[in-house]
Amino acid sequence: MEWNESLATGFPQIDQHHRTLFKAVSAMAAAAATDDGAAEYLRLLGFLDRYCRDHFAFEEGCMERHRCPAAAANKQQHQGLLQMLTEHRRLNAAHGYDPHDATILVHAMQHWLRNHIGRVDRELRHCVSAKVRVPENGVSS
Ligand SMILES: [Fe+2]
Repeated sequence: MEWNESLATGFPQIDQHHRTLFKAVSAMAAAAATDDGAAEYLRLLGFLDRYCRDHFAFEEGCMERHRCPAAAANKQQHQGLLQMLTEHRRLNAAHGYDPHDATILVHAMQHWLRNHIGRVDRELRHCVSAKVRVPENGVSS
């Protein structure tokens, strides 16, 4: 599963982050489907946790600056995802790697990325068009 134009927010840096997230989750799916993929899966899980925290902080700042109406929902869904990642890291630390848990997380992440980016992050595109809108008489103030 990859990023595509239907998920574009109009903010190139955020779109680039989203591409990286899709790539990381695809790599996790590949690792989880491999018999000896545990180490790679756990490495990617750690990467994803750090990357999401940085990306979410960046994106939330962007929404706040643009007074995006989706800002509160965005923050709330980010918290939900971070909790899910934390819980899976805790399970791995407590009980060791479990390919079944790994597959569940990969599917949940894929679902979350599509829904969240498609429905919440994409509200940002209205902020971009508001920023560059030119009046109908063609004279910008
Ligand atoms: Fe977001």
